[in-house]
Amino acid sequence: MHPVDVLQQEHDFIERLCAVLSKLVEAARRKEPVSREALERIIALFRERVDLVHHEKEETVLFDELGRAGVNWTSDAMTRIRTEHQQERYLIRSLRHSALQQEEWTESDRQSFVSIGAELLELQHRHLEQEQAHLFPLARDRLPAGRVDAVLLDFEKLERQGMDCAVAASTLEALERQYLS
Ligand SMILES: [Fe+2]
Ligand SMILES: [Fe+2]
Repeated sequence: MHPVDVLQQEHDFIERLCAVLSKLVEAARRKEPVSREALERIIALFRERVDLVHHEKEETVLFDELGRAGVNWTSDAMTRIRTEHQQERYLIRSLRHSALQQEEWTESDRQSFVSIGAELLELQHRHLEQEQAHLFPLARDRLPAGRVDAVLLDFEKLERQGMDCAVAASTLEALERQYLS
């Protein structure tokens, strides 16, 4: 398996997670109740699988390797990826604040959830597309074949810092059953 295959599988996971989040955003837009508990589970997946694992694989492992392979990793494209990861982190923190709020949401809380949720979905969608169109082909092209195993090993190490992959998969499946079936 190539490291980009691992990242692509994670993108598929992120797209499925976004599909669930979009259901909650749509419900809030229609002024229907939003389950805080479901929102908390979605945010945990964003934090522990997307930010702590996927973004770290891209930023600390892949960019480093591409830099060593002669790719200009301070280029505009890579700087934009890092900036978008930071923006996502900020938006996820804001959504977590909404999820953990003890009191009932006011009308302004609801509107804020809808606008932050929509912004995250839009950013995430654009971000995945950009990486798939530019970063992934570049990585397939420039990552030396002799470094593939070392990168996969570094990816494995990062798996330990987030939510267990199997737990994350079953959490997402449960959310999909609840919101997408
Ligand atoms: Fe990314
Ligand atoms: Fe990515």
